[in-house]
Amino acid sequence: MKKLIVAMMLVAFTFAVAYAADTVTYENSKGTVTFNHKVHSEKMDCAACHEGTPAKIVVDKDAAHGAVCKDCHKKDGGPTKCNDCHKK
Ligand code: HEC
Ligand code: HEC
Ligand code: HEC
Repeated sequence: MKKLIVAMMLVAFTFAVAYAADTVTYENSKGTVTFNHKVHSEKMDCAACHEGTPAKIVVDKDAAHGAVCKDCHKKDGGPTKCNDCHKK
């Protein structure tokens, strides 16, 4: 029984990773922001953004302009100008 549960958890985890979208777009009034999850994941470890088991991260305006996106761009040389992220 224990083995079965572990196997099911592995399947669930693999499924989630396999289906993390390559790109995520955030439509908003300032202009659509495209986050390329695949490109970011190739350049850095999952742990650069995800604590523990990678899962959904909530991305709202404050998060995007701070800890979840922009703070790292300031530190590691990603885009920080409004229109580098927001495209109309
Ligand atoms: C640069 C930061 C960053 C890196 C690196 C990163 N992720 Fe993510 N990941 C995110 C963000 C942000 C989201 C939430 C996107 C959304 O749905 O708004 C996310 C979402 C996910 C999700 C949830 C998908 C969903 O919609 O439920 C999974 C699973 C995931 N990432 C796995 C991984 C794995 C595995 C790696 C390493 C190979 C990785 N991530 C690397 C930022 C990152
Ligand atoms: C842990 C660091 C880190 C985090 C967190 C991160 N980025 Fe980046 N991002 C980078 C780096 C470094 C680059 C520059 C890559 C290059 O040009 O080689 C980059 C490049 C980009 C680019 C331009 C290249 C492209 O993929 O089109 C966009 C747009 C971008 N990031 C959006 C986001 C958004 C939106 C988030 C939050 C959901 C985010 N990033 C989170 C490090 C990060
Ligand atoms: C690192 C990428 C990035 C940069 C740089 C950035 N933003 Fe954003 N911004 C986002 C993301 C992602 C969202 C959308 C979050 C969401 O979907 O709730 C957002 C949301 C917004 C919103 C909310 C719009 C709405 O409809 O609610 C405004 C306004 C905004 N940004 C203005 C700016 C301005 C002004 C700048 C420059 C000073 C800027 N942003 C720089 C990523 C960025």
